[in-house]
Parts: sequence; structure tokens; C-alpha cells
Amino acid sequence: MQTQTIKSLLLSLSIPLLFANGLSYADQSFVDTKTGQPLKIDSKLFNTEQSKKFLSTGVNPYTGNAEAIASGKKHYQTYSCAQCHGAQAQGQTAAGLTGPRFNHAKSATDKGMFEIIYAGTNGGMSGKGQGIMDPGNHSNGLSPDETLRVIAWIRSQGGK
Ligand code: HEC
Repeated sequence: MQTQTIKSLLLSLSIPLLFANGLSYADQSFVDTKTGQPLKIDSKLFNTEQSKKFLSTGVNPYTGNAEAIASGKKHYQTYSCAQCHGAQAQGQTAAGLTGPRFNHAKSATDKGMFEIIYAGTNGGMSGKGQGIMDPGNHSNGLSPDETLRVIAWIRSQGGK
């Protein structure tokens, strides 16, 4: 009983701290698919209500949101995803993205697909879709919020 009280007290104290200290990458421990090492993304880049929510839950709040899906489709086209994965994400030179089977099992989760799109894989998928985009340079290419919109569009194409 007492341990429970202490635990919930610690939890209620630590949550505001995570948001207050500006240098937290803490909420989601993203993993770089290429190296298996932590993928550090400045939490300041999660600068919309929805991307902040994603940071704390790992779930994409844009799933099923028509406005986000429409903008995600535009980003998907702008960032050349369509050239390799097909206009409907059905697959072209690279595999389709709608599942239920994926090259990387973690693509089935929002967090996993986010990690792949944001930082790439060793199998020919460059971070943020294009070789010319530097995943280390966060002002270059898709922002976290845009990445979530792209994922919402991909999921709307028949994936889970
Ligand atoms: C130059 C071609 C190319 C472009 C452009 C590209 N991809 Fe990929 N993508 C690939 C290849 C090849 C793979 C397979 C990589 C692997 O298996 O490691 C892949 C894998 C993926 C996966 C993992 C799929 C699975 O089965 O696990 C996702 C998700 C993905 N791409 C999304 C995107 C998105 C979103 C964009 C645009 C921002 C994009 N890709 C742009 C070539 C591309």
C-alpha cells in the first residue's frame, strides 16, 4: 500500500519535470533501425499538440484524421516516397507499406514506422526517404509532425 503511494507520488512529480527541462529525449526511447542504438531526437521538434502526444504515448494521434491524412499524402509525394513505394503505397521498386507483413516487424507499430521513416534502415531506405536529406539535420526534410501525418496516410491505405 505504502509503496504504491510512494510510486504514484514519484510519478506525479516526474511527469511535469520531463516536460520542463527542455533537454528530455525521455518519453519515447526511439531506436535507430540501422544501428540498434538510441535515436536521439530533440523533444523541442515535437512542437505540435499531436506530436507531443505521440512522444508520450507512442501512438499516432493522426490515425483516421482526414485532414492529417490529406496533408500526409502530399508529404508522401513531395518527399519521393511514391517513387519507390508506389502512389498508393502498394509497392513499386520498393515493397508496399500497407502490411500486414513488413520487412521490419516494427513497421506494424507507429513508433517503429516512425523510427524507420525518420532515420532509415540498412536495407536501402534512407532517413526521411531521400539520400540527400540528412537525418542528423533535423531542419532538413520531414518534421516529426509531418512524419506522423505520412504514417496516418500510409495506414489509411489499408494497413493496420
Ligand atoms: C529510393 C527509394 C526509396 C524512397 C524514396 C523511400 N523509400 Fe522507404 N524503403 C525503401 C526500401 C528499399 C525499403 C526496404 C528497406 C529495408 O528492408 O530495410 C524501404 C522501407 C520502408 C519502410 C519499412 C517497410 C517495411 O516493410 O518494414 C517504410 C515504412 C518506408 N520505407 C517508408 C517510406 C516513406 C514514408 C518514404 C518517404 C518519406 C520512403 N519510404 C521513401 C526505399 C525507399
